[in-house]
Amino acid sequence: MHIDVLSAVPELLESPFSHSILKRAGDQGLLSINVIDLRKYGIGKYNQLDDYQYGGGAGMVMMAEPLARAIKELSHPKPFDEVIFLTPDGETLNQSIANELSLKGRILLICGHYKGIDQRIRDLYVTREISIGDYVLSGGELAAAVLVDAIGRLLPGAIGDGTSALEDSHQDGILAPPVYTRPEEFEGLKVPKILLSGDHKKIADWREEQAIRRTEERRPDLLDS
Ligand code: 6GU
Repeated sequence: MHIDVLSAVPELLESPFSHSILKRAGDQGLLSINVIDLRKYGIGKYNQLDDYQYGGGAGMVMMAEPLARAIKELSHPKPFDEVIFLTPDGETLNQSIANELSLKGRILLICGHYKGIDQRIRDLYVTREISIGDYVLSGGELAAAVLVDAIGRLLPGAIGDGTSALEDSHQDGILAPPVYTRPEEFEGLKVPKILLSGDHKKIADWREEQAIRRTEERRPDLLDS
């Protein structure tokens, strides 16, 4: 899978893409990520990217031309399967969207800044708009990093133990059960006996029961759907 990320602040994306699971996915050739500096496509001597909004109001808007030139250049010769704009008014990211996107071949992510991007880019080029939750970030870069992480770890082979991505909270629509490691007793709290029993069937049943209980307590909305 290949992901291009278009950003006016590419420095924000260096660290998240060069560590952990994403680095591993990259090293194994499962995922290639290319961060493109939108400034390269800016207008005039100062590589201008934003301008005042028509109709007035505070806040600058990212201009259509630099974005369109970048999108067209990056789409050639191979078009993208999805052109995604990260924006707080997009559909809220969840595991099912991450699963779906992990099956695509080529994705372009567009990070917005200021008051957003000229609507015509959204009308003409963007195929999908995604938010990472109901709060406002100062730009789309951190949201893009979240999305790429959620997708990248789903690629077969990205995680050491191939089964573990399927056992995550949310993957089957409920939260994950509690987990324990050594020591058997810590500050007076013991590991639940059943986990030391060696009885795999009982352990699986206990985990499922714990997962359901946790979901009822913390996210009853997940059980409704
Ligand atoms: Cl995708 N962008 C911005 N700027 N803020 C957000 C967001 C995206 N998702 C949640 N808040």
